[in-house]
Amino acid sequence: MRSDYCGGINEAHIDQEVTLCGWVHRRRDHGGVIFLDMRDRDGIAQVVFDPDTPECFQAADRVRSEYVVRIKGRVRRRPAGTENRNMATGQVEVLGTELELLNAAATPPFPLDEYGDVGEDVRLRFRYMDLRRPEMLNRLRFRSRVTSYLRNFLEGQGYMDVETPILTRATPEGARDYLVPSRTHAGSFFALPQSPQLFKQLLMVSGIDRYYQIAKCFRDEDLRADRQPEFTQVDVECSFTDEESLMDTMETMIRDLFRDLQKVELPRFPRLTYADAMHRYGSDKPDLRIPFELVDVADLVAKVDFKVFSGPANSDGGRVAALHIPGGGSLTRKQIDDYTKFVGIYGARGLAYIKVNEVAKGIEGLQSPIIKFLGDEATQAIMSRLNVKDGDIVFFGADKTRVVNEALGALRVKLGHDLKRLESEWAPCWVVDFPMFEQDDDGGLHAIHHPFTAPSCSVEELVKAPAAALSRAYDMVLNGTELGGGSIRIHDQAMQATVFRTLGISDEEAEEKFGFLLDALKYGCPPHGGLAFGLDRLVMLMTGASSIRDVIPFPKTQSATCLLTDAPGEVDEKQLKELHIRLRKAQQAAAPAKPAGE
Ligand code: AMO
Ligand code: AMP
Repeated sequence: MRSDYCGGINEAHIDQEVTLCGWVHRRRDHGGVIFLDMRDRDGIAQVVFDPDTPECFQAADRVRSEYVVRIKGRVRRRPAGTENRNMATGQVEVLGTELELLNAAATPPFPLDEYGDVGEDVRLRFRYMDLRRPEMLNRLRFRSRVTSYLRNFLEGQGYMDVETPILTRATPEGARDYLVPSRTHAGSFFALPQSPQLFKQLLMVSGIDRYYQIAKCFRDEDLRADRQPEFTQVDVECSFTDEESLMDTMETMIRDLFRDLQKVELPRFPRLTYADAMHRYGSDKPDLRIPFELVDVADLVAKVDFKVFSGPANSDGGRVAALHIPGGGSLTRKQIDDYTKFVGIYGARGLAYIKVNEVAKGIEGLQSPIIKFLGDEATQAIMSRLNVKDGDIVFFGADKTRVVNEALGALRVKLGHDLKRLESEWAPCWVVDFPMFEQDDDGGLHAIHHPFTAPSCSVEELVKAPAAALSRAYDMVLNGTELGGGSIRIHDQAMQATVFRTLGISDEEAEEKFGFLLDALKYGCPPHGGLAFGLDRLVMLMTGASSIRDVIPFPKTQSATCLLTDAPGEVDEKQLKELHIRLRKAQQAAAPAKPAGE
């Protein structure tokens, strides 16, 4: 139907006859000459119709934005002075000789030629129109290049693409399951996979040796800019390996990807222990583009009268930390008040600070509402530990360790952006030596990664001090986003059973839920490990998008609905009956409001 894509027309086509198919991006009538900007997925070409060809001139006069047309014409150089340097095809235009209207179009819900700030609700409802915008199209095109690149890399390393089921049993990755009722087994449900974790491990038992899959995962959890209920992992598993070799391959894959597709040489990824990351950055996914660090000062304030500080300093689960911002002394009172509100989101009950006006003047050179409570000695000791300079500011957090880490960790990132103090464009790292378990509020334990992650210690040591056990897990972090995570797995049945017991899962429950895995471990399971990348997050970072919704063709809103298809939807009584389901309180089951999201 066509000879070329609109975006592909250039000076090499001059004097050639071309046939283009696409959408009318814009139509302009310039006193007797009609210009159509024609758009397809590759770009835009300018087509000119003049009254010398009356039939197609009239046809061109009738078309409107987003009509679908096919044109024939001859490519020519644009007259001097009318070239458009902002357009790939801007040196040439097509003198139209035929125009065939393939389909008319209703007035678009938002203009595509002069795209302003259209609400995300509207964009999602008319997603097929939104995806016509070059910005969106280019992201999808880039995503396709990324998956193709990663596939090639993994295939080249001997990894084999194997599919795993979507209708399955629950996989514990820490979120709620999406359930699918069974028609043939009344009262029973499939779960959609939160990840292919158990199947990929079973594939190692099968001897597949190296597996990968671009896998859809489903998690019913609270959504954010980097979380969707349905998302895609680049999922990898390998037998007869260890963390060094796996991390090395995965790091090479990401560095190669950035080198070839982004034209960026990433540095070798530094490694941080989990403890170090929490200590210095208040986060297990530190944004290392930002130079600020948290520093403990509990020992210096343990004896002061100021209970806000001495309380947490002397309590077991407490932390008192300082966040030193060189050059931050120019922050105004109003800005500090706003940051105080900001840390409040994370549960902080205040945000003490000390401004450093003039170090040489000692206490007199400092400005702060808390020095009178802290006393001169503690204040001086803190200032000298932080090695402050004139014009700095120091913020403080004093509370339960979790609150201090979350509040100051988030403040660190916010200040880094607000004060434009990012020191590099890309800052990757590995976080290693995660604890195996984390304490719940009720005193129980839950797995920080998933319960199939191998501990770094023996069964005996794990039983003796589970809370102290470290795991053989690793996360890859880029610019403060967790790109991927994985671990060396348990391949020994006794260890797996011990971990289940430590998590408070009884032998019966373990048998019921994971009996197939425990069985498989008996039949010759090789040592193995792997990792999964969040593909959406990777593409989001590489394209500079601010949400993963912008790199997913048909994403869900923040309340987990699809505005385009209006899913989830009600089903009729007959279908429910077949599925053995009776709704409770049908009234309340009506669809909730559907805002678009962050
Ligand atoms: P994990 O739960 O860490 O590990 O997930 C791996 C990666 O998937 C991405 N991710 C998400 N992306 C978008 N929306 C979500 N809701 C979402 N949840 C996770 C993140 C994350 O790093 N089976 C293990 C991997 C393994 O051990 O091999 C797993 O799923 O980028
Ligand atoms: P107050 O005595 O509550 O007025 O607090 C004195 C100063 O300490 C104020 O600047 C508060 O913002 C700050 N502050 C109060 N609670 C905390 C806390 N938990 N962590 C850090 N600073 C705090």
